[in-house]
Amino acid sequence: MIIKTAEFEQSNSDYKKCPQHGKHEFAFIGRSNVGKSSLINMLTNHQKLAKTSSSPGKTQLINHFIINKDWYLVDLPGYGYAKVSKKMRQKFEDLNKGYILNREELVLLFVLIDIRHEPQKVDLEFMQFLGEKAVPFMIIFTKADKLSSSKLNKNLLTYKKKMLEQWSEMPRFFVSSAKDKRGKEELLDYIDELNKTL
Ligand code: GTP
Ligand code: MG
Repeated sequence: MIIKTAEFEQSNSDYKKCPQHGKHEFAFIGRSNVGKSSLINMLTNHQKLAKTSSSPGKTQLINHFIINKDWYLVDLPGYGYAKVSKKMRQKFEDLNKGYILNREELVLLFVLIDIRHEPQKVDLEFMQFLGEKAVPFMIIFTKADKLSSSKLNKNLLTYKKKMLEQWSEMPRFFVSSAKDKRGKEELLDYIDELNKTL
């Protein structure tokens, strides 16, 4: 799929305030600093469309970006960041849960996971929650450029093994890098396919 236009539309502090457009939305969620905003920039070829930062906790609102004037990418605040106050963590959690569980436009949630690390409890529990609530999701393993291909494959195998303790099958997953643009075509083609069939 070719992205002709990608524009920031709105930031919201509550899913109830999000734009009423009836168009498809694909949202990115995951731990703070995993690379959600960077991935949106990579997919849209805009270095500064979504705000990124080397320190966690940058994205604090629900951000809507309209693509080709036809469908949306949605950037969400990260979870699992220990350094923000309990009150702020709860605020982000409520914001994310409100959006995920109530947003009718949401077609698919992409859960981003940094492939450099061992499977983390917070991600596994979050995906468990999605399963219990029957929220459709897929995984995007990020920062693949930071590993050699052998280490990458090893970590992918470890992750699959861990997921199979909890799930009857491994959810569909993608491997990405905002740096070398790995996964870009595969992800955009997948979204394109869904946009055409739904
Ligand atoms: P919050 O908004 O704080 O939840 O973080 P986020 O998940 O949106 O992460 P963000 O995109 O701001 O990226 C965090 C840091 O990781 C930045 O310094 C990015 O440059 C870096 N980063 C993101 N993706 C990649 C990647 O694929 N490869 C490399 N090498 N660095 C990346
Ligand atoms: Mg962000």
